[in-house]
Amino acid sequence: MNQPLLHHKFPELVSRLPYVRLGTAPTPVRRLDGLGSRNRLWLKDESVFGDGGWGGNKVRKLEWILPDVLARKSRRIITVGGLGTNWGLATALYAKRFGIGTALALIDQPVDDHVRAQLERLRRSGATLHLTRNKARTVACAPWLMLRHTRGGRLPYYLPPGGSSPVGALGYVEAGLEIAAQVEAGDIPEPAHVVAAVGSGGTAAGLLLGLRLAGLRTGVVAVVVNDTLPLGPREIRDLAGRTETLLRRRGAKLGDIDLTSGKLTVTREYLGPGYGYATAEGRAAQRVGLEHGIPLDPVYTAKAFAGLLEIDAKTLVDDGPIVMLDTFGPRPD
Ligand SMILES: Cc1ncc(COP(=O)(O)O)c(C=O)c1O
Repeated sequence: MNQPLLHHKFPELVSRLPYVRLGTAPTPVRRLDGLGSRNRLWLKDESVFGDGGWGGNKVRKLEWILPDVLARKSRRIITVGGLGTNWGLATALYAKRFGIGTALALIDQPVDDHVRAQLERLRRSGATLHLTRNKARTVACAPWLMLRHTRGGRLPYYLPPGGSSPVGALGYVEAGLEIAAQVEAGDIPEPAHVVAAVGSGGTAAGLLLGLRLAGLRTGVVAVVVNDTLPLGPREIRDLAGRTETLLRRRGAKLGDIDLTSGKLTVTREYLGPGYGYATAEGRAAQRVGLEHGIPLDPVYTAKAFAGLLEIDAKTLVDDGPIVMLDTFGPRPD
């Protein structure tokens, strides 16, 4: 289906909220047989979302962001990430197809083989790279960067880290509606919780809103993997609220939504020493993942998977099915 569920549910948005299909939906769901204590673990494989099957959760955000850039007549995006940013790479490669250039301000993170290889891909992507090193320098350079990338009198389209603007979060509002459709179709039981890695918050915030819009009671377990941004329940709910406001401003008749009613569990237990540092629990989770045919990356999904396994084993959340969102997308080489 080429129409997003969001347009299907709120037809009044069709002409007011542009969208471009970049991935194949719905993404597959499967029970993780033989894993966990009570056979209640499921996986929604976001890793295959994207043209040619790569990109993961970033591509869902870009489906709403890229048409917004074009609608604003901008031809250049500027965004921020770590040296190994998955987000920056996906943006550069997908934006290029629409004639949109990308500039990336890159902040230091621990450099290992995984990050080195990613930097090489970023160099080849055609994006302009600015090694701004840390948050303070990035903020200080921001006015210069905006001017440097102004084209034809138009400022570049600024995207916060991870594309977690309200427009970007719409990608996971859509995924929340998709989960509800999969429940309705009998592909999965209604989840008690969905577990996701949180790097900049757009995925968790979009999900929270999408699940509420779909009328599910499902809670969100947000496994924070980034300590360079404030990412508590307040920030995630705030972004979900700003996304709701965006939908209302574009004319969606949403009815009453109480975002505070949704269960949102935010945990920093699996972060380890900080963003980009592998952890022993993450490595153990990667091994378990591989045994079940799930490749996990050390920065995001291994930590979320470690959270999933422990939450299940220790019964840290109430009973019922738990769905892990596998947001890791393989990269083009
Ligand atoms: C593989 C992977 N999973 C999860 C995330 C986190 O998503 P968000 O930034 O929306 O919190 C990212 C962010 O880049 C990612 O690359």
